Amino acid sequence: MAQVTVVDHPLIQHKLTGLRRKETQTGDFRRLLREIALLLAYEVTRDMPLTRERIETPLMPMDAPVLAGKLCFVSILRAGNGILDGMLDLLPSAPVGHIGLYRDPQTLASVEYYFKVPHDISDRLAIVVDPMLATGNSAIAAVQRLKDISAKSIKLVCILAAPEGVKSFQEAHPDVAVFTAAIDRQLNDHGYILPGLGDAGDRLFGTK
Ligand code: URA
Repeated sequence: MAQVTVVDHPLIQHKLTGLRRKETQTGDFRRLLREIALLLAYEVTRDMPLTRERIETPLMPMDAPVLAGKLCFVSILRAGNGILDGMLDLLPSAPVGHIGLYRDPQTLASVEYYFKVPHDISDRLAIVVDPMLATGNSAIAAVQRLKDISAKSIKLVCILAAPEGVKSFQEAHPDVAVFTAAIDRQLNDHGYILPGLGDAGDRLFGTK
């Protein structure tokens, strides 16, 4: 079974509490999400390979470490874009793909309406981002779509996960490691995470 990493760094946990508070308004919600994403980017890239490059310091030449692996981000629209901003602060030149999925309100199944990803995705680590791993349906569908076009190395980053979503995702994609800031108690009947933080997309974009 793929590993699930709960990144329990105090800074992340403190900022996550800010995201959860119902009185947190759009501007602060965006900023907190961006900051948490940046910190999660640090963790999800921890095992990226390094090589050495000959450089000159002001004092002498040296073989200095530089990143050897290539990666890209894939945002599950629309709330994934809130994570993207923070990750791109850390890795500004990474290419970005987008997958548009909406949840059918009756069945909670994922329906695709947009798909565009880097052409060389099979040569890259693809970091799929979506703040909420709730039922897991969107993340499962997005990762399957990437596998169908030959993506080989995939990781999933979310902010909050439900135990139900983690279980379904692991069953569908046992080879894909998951990084999250917390695993909450459960889903409610509408597929929302409890205690959660509400609708991440609406809170991020101020649409409700
Ligand atoms: N999507 C959200 O935005 N929030 C949830 O709690 C579940 C899915």
